[in-house]
This record gives sequence, structure tokens and C-alpha cells, in this order.
Amino acid sequence: MYTEVAYPNTKPAFYDFLEHQLEEYTGDETDRVAALANFCSVLKIAFPKANWAGFYLVSGDELVLGPFQGRPAVSRIAYGAGVCGAAWREDRAQVVEDVECFAGHIACDCSTHSEIVVPLRDGDGRIWGVLDMDSVLTGYFTDEDRAGLERCVKPLARFA
Ligand code: SME
Repeated sequence: MYTEVAYPNTKPAFYDFLEHQLEEYTGDETDRVAALANFCSVLKIAFPKANWAGFYLVSGDELVLGPFQGRPAVSRIAYGAGVCGAAWREDRAQVVEDVECFAGHIACDCSTHSEIVVPLRDGDGRIWGVLDMDSVLTGYFTDEDRAGLERCVKPLARFA
């Protein structure tokens, strides 16, 4: 059963807490869909101004929609397309302060104003998917979030 929690107010403490909470809800799970589903559910709760949290997984030369929380979204993204495809092509996380200013941003929900995309990497550092989060606020995600989320997704390498 999910227990309501009060998240710490500072980012370092928040990410220490979140990392443990994600481990608690997904750490024992061996099924990829089940683990990713609970992972993004926890994230959606942890980020009150996030309107979407979920995964796109590499399949050939596309990213295909995986488990997510939020409104229905585009189900396939080509290599290099949008913010997610840019993270894959550029091999690095993307922190988008204002999606209106990101050329090629793929809009799924008109209430989205900012976005963060963090690659999922296998044991050799190769990208096998991305974590994508959207927010209704401009500038909601920061470089501290990038670093924190990169840490949080590390254990998911077992599902690559
Ligand atoms: N905005 C993303 C598409 C996915 S939705 O945000 C859920 C992008 O530009 O890649």
C-alpha cells in the first residue's frame, strides 16, 4: 500500500528521500513494465507540478511509449525528434525551461510549459530509453533535478 509522505524541502534531501522511496516501490520488482509503472507513479506524486511522468523505450530507430502517468501522449518518437529524441541523439539529458522555445518540441498536452528528459543507460552507458517529465510551470526543472533524476534512474539499468 502507498503511504503518503512529506517530501523534504531542499533538493539534496529531497533526492536522497526520493531515491529510497523509488527503491522501496520498485527495487524488488523483476518485471520491467511493473517497475517502470510504479516508478513513474511515485515521480508524479513527488513532483506536484508535473502533469506527465513516464518512459519512452528504444525500439529500433524509434522511441516507443512505455509506462506513464498523465494524459495520453504520442506513442512513437523518431531518433532526434522532439526533446526525447534530442536526448537520445545528443546522448545527454535535456532540461527545457520553456517548451515554446525548444525547436521541434512535440506537444502532447497544451498545459505543459517545461520539460526534463533523462536518458536510461545500460551497464555500458548505452541509451535504452528515456524518462520524460512535463510540468505546468515554466522553469520547473533545474540542473539539480537533472542530476537527481540521473541518480534515481541508475538502478533501472537492470531492465536494459
Ligand atoms: N514533449 C516530448 C514528447 C512526449 S510528451 O511530452 C509526453 C518531446 O518533445 O519529445
